[in-house]
Amino acid sequence: MDVYEAVTSRRAVRGFTDQPVPREALERVLSAAAWAPSGSDLQPWHIYVVTGAPLAQLKKLATERVAAGVPWDEREYVMYPPALKSPYAERRSAFGKERYSALGIAREDWEARQRAAIANWDCFGAPAALFCYIDRDLGLPQWADLGMYLQTVMLLLRAEGLHSCPQMAWSQVRKTVAEIVSPPAELILFCGMSIGYEDFTVPYIRTGRAPLDETVTFVQG
Ligand SMILES: Cc1cc2nc3c(=O)[nH]c(=O)nc-3n(C[C@H](O)[C@H](O)[C@H](O)COP(=O)(O)O)c2cc1C
Repeated sequence: MDVYEAVTSRRAVRGFTDQPVPREALERVLSAAAWAPSGSDLQPWHIYVVTGAPLAQLKKLATERVAAGVPWDEREYVMYPPALKSPYAERRSAFGKERYSALGIAREDWEARQRAAIANWDCFGAPAALFCYIDRDLGLPQWADLGMYLQTVMLLLRAEGLHSCPQMAWSQVRKTVAEIVSPPAELILFCGMSIGYEDFTVPYIRTGRAPLDETVTFVQG
């Protein structure tokens, strides 16, 4: 697959079939993704791949917990600044509109939004997931390295005919994830990622992007 095609066909897929993901495909993807760059080659990512019975158990525990309204675990990093300023606030609200209108959910229908959001903890039906951790002693540049690594994983998954959804939502129930993967205490959970084959019956609206001149400045002589 052409790199441009991998980039443009990747999107946060929120509906997967139960077709199993071959272990060999995951090994190919994660072996190649290890070539992602990182400052001084620290390779600060710690990845746990979860499938089968442990994933079923995690989905059950997390979904039941969220449905019961158990409070989120205390945060180990801030997901978003409490007051998002312009233009981020507008972009976030455009995304919310796209996400929920695709599912026929009205803006003010908080309960339906919650029901849709709870699918996060069922991995949107995906039969595989990974959890990306970082050492708590590392700093902002190493967190950026995680982003490069995760995007590399997501693009390689496209080459295997697979789709993904990165999910910070998992950090809100990080202790439930820890019950399943038992990470060492020095690691912080950045995010999960659902992985599988797309369920084409789940409607979606492709999220938009700002025009080039809003985010890119060419400084030319
Ligand atoms: C670090 C990160 C965390 C995300 N967390 C979630 C999440 O918890 N749940 C979710 O449904 N989507 C999540 N997303 C997906 C974004 O909403 C999505 O990437 C964005 O709206 C752009 O849409 P696209 O990826 O389909 O192009 C996350 C994306 C990133 C990069």
